[in-house]
Amino acid sequence: MPACSPRTPPPPATGTGAPSSEPAARDATMEQFVDSVLAKLTLEEKLGQLAQYRGRGTPTGPQVPEGGEAEIRAGRVGSFLGVHGAAYTHKMQRIAVEESRARIPLLFAEDVIHGFRTVFPVPLAEAASWDVAGVERAARVAATEAAAAGLHWTFAPMVDIARDARWGRIVEGAGEDPYLGAAMAAANVRGFQGRDLRDPLAIMATAKHFVAYGAAEAGRDYNTTDVSERTLREVYLPPFKAAVDAGAASVMAAFNELSGVPMHANGALINGLLRREWGWNGVLVSDYTGVMELMPHGIAADRAQAGILALTAGVDIDMVSGIYVAELPAAVRAGQVMESAVDEAVRRVLRAKYRLGLFEDPFRRGDSYREAQLTLSAPHIAEARALARKSIVLLKNAPRAGTPVLPLRKDLRTLAVIGPLAQDRASALGSWAVSAHEEDAVSVLDGIRQAVPDTKVVFAAGAPVEDPDGSGIANAVRVARGADAAVVVLGEHRDMSAEARNRTSLDLPGVQLQLLKAIHATGVPLVVVLMNGRPLSIPWLDENVLAILETWYLGVQMGPAVADVLFGDYNPGGKLPVSFPRTVGQEPLYYNHKNTGRPPSDAERYTSKYIDVPWTPLYPFGHGLSYTTFAYSVPRLSATRIGTTGSIMVQTDVTNTGTVAGDEVVQLYVRDEVASVTRPVRELRGFERITLEPGQSRTVSFTLEPDDLAFFDQRMQRVVEPGFFTVWVGASSADDERPARFEVTR
Ligand code: NOJ
Repeated sequence: MPACSPRTPPPPATGTGAPSSEPAARDATMEQFVDSVLAKLTLEEKLGQLAQYRGRGTPTGPQVPEGGEAEIRAGRVGSFLGVHGAAYTHKMQRIAVEESRARIPLLFAEDVIHGFRTVFPVPLAEAASWDVAGVERAARVAATEAAAAGLHWTFAPMVDIARDARWGRIVEGAGEDPYLGAAMAAANVRGFQGRDLRDPLAIMATAKHFVAYGAAEAGRDYNTTDVSERTLREVYLPPFKAAVDAGAASVMAAFNELSGVPMHANGALINGLLRREWGWNGVLVSDYTGVMELMPHGIAADRAQAGILALTAGVDIDMVSGIYVAELPAAVRAGQVMESAVDEAVRRVLRAKYRLGLFEDPFRRGDSYREAQLTLSAPHIAEARALARKSIVLLKNAPRAGTPVLPLRKDLRTLAVIGPLAQDRASALGSWAVSAHEEDAVSVLDGIRQAVPDTKVVFAAGAPVEDPDGSGIANAVRVARGADAAVVVLGEHRDMSAEARNRTSLDLPGVQLQLLKAIHATGVPLVVVLMNGRPLSIPWLDENVLAILETWYLGVQMGPAVADVLFGDYNPGGKLPVSFPRTVGQEPLYYNHKNTGRPPSDAERYTSKYIDVPWTPLYPFGHGLSYTTFAYSVPRLSATRIGTTGSIMVQTDVTNTGTVAGDEVVQLYVRDEVASVTRPVRELRGFERITLEPGQSRTVSFTLEPDDLAFFDQRMQRVVEPGFFTVWVGASSADDERPARFEVTR
């Protein structure tokens, strides 16, 4: 006879982690229900709710690990990572709700990062679209496919700011800027979670990795970080705040230590800042073996101490380590940790299950019919292609014999496609495409072939991506010589930009540059298509190649999207979400740096610069060209003076001055000229991607609110200080034409 009788709970509260979005009455009902469940659990069952195990691949799909069913029955597990499939998750859920004593439904989680089966561009590429609504739709598509396959929870979005391109995980986030990063974070949370977490097609989002994971010293993953409170609050925290404000139901702790305290034991930031200061009440999950890693970090002598430290800091769920469930019963009984700390964590897990509607109907996600209907459906594929096209950045497009090299004509007789990445479908999917099938992806080569069926498309790999093997170069040169034009696809394969995939060089790997030089020497009209998950240092390309497209890893529709742009069926309008350095030695490199007391100047020796390369990026943050041109008017301000609590409207007319329709990402930057602490040389404070027909003009309006002008003063108070601000509205962070100015008065 089960101790906990089957329950029919009151309707779950809508909303998510943001307490403000939940009417107090529904909150109270949920709390009562959660308390009633908690009261009936043994200590072991409580700790079971905090345990997450990893699934294993089997020929019929991902399943719970060996012995998992017995663990479910015994109430020793609350959630699984990497287990999905409508029918299979239902089978496991049935064991939980019918055969375990406590009858608490399970959560199934997975890294649904940039798509489930319909894979979208990698997050860095999505950010390059600057298309907030498009990114939200991509997350919605991912959530619907994932939920149909039985998942409740994704470990995305990764909202880590990355200022160092050596760090392999730069590919997983929105790049270097906190403002763009916050916009992408919120869009993803909205997309994954939908309007109501009870919706059978909504899944919980996880803002990760909390916090400053991207600040890893020397770009080495998992490495130490040491960041000032100001930089933490102004650079690394804003995307988390945006995610929390958008209702993120979950947050994941980061592997790194921050100024001496590993994040899995950082109570000041988890319980203090995230929960008390921000009022967030979602569930905090460890990153994989993050609890166990408190031992090698050197702050826990054994597993029990690691578990106690993590739980006390506010880490609710122990992913993979198995420490909570194994070590904490004895620790609680010995009085080393209060049972009330366990209860708090369990409450947060139960709330998550309640908000997802699982106590009402544990089988509301996972639906074989929907799984078949939605997965890789035509509308999903169309969304993937649309966002893929929008994520492409035209880095350079210079004329050859008076005409820009791109777009290519569709009536070429012979087109050479060179480079192994051109036919690499796995790389098109990018890192973290765990549920993807390689055969769903269309390679660049196939995309080109489909786009120009009357052209003879000849392929030569030329040289491997990484190996220093130049034996195929001669054949590639022969192929290029016989063609009217060559598309040379270069970069990194997908396993070079990912977790633990850090590089000390940002150059094209292997002998790819040698291959390119050989093709270039033939004189054939040439386009470089870059596939990569981080900024690369490509000064030779910039000097010698007339047309360069940054295409990242664009997902299942990579080939068609690249072909759309190559042949002019789509006019590229993406902009870089990261600065591209000239050389790795410039890293960390970011546009919103401080001015220093000796700003860089070529005329002055003792200024902040290098003796061997210019200090500026090769391509700045926000850079991206188009097949058309745009003109900007001088910005008009709604006032020349405002008070410290006032707002100001900035308006600019943008005109398409070319002959084809195109998209422009209009960017607004501000600079606080003199303040009580040093301020960045400029900061993004608004953007909008617009489409203009040839000759068409549009007025783009931005409103700067006090928060856009505020910063943390010497007492760490957020203030708007009186003084002058410069405003630029332009095409990139380096566009310093047409500054406008206003004053904030007391
Ligand atoms: C480790 C990664 O750091 C994290 O981002 C991911 O969500 C977990 N593994 C689970 O796969």
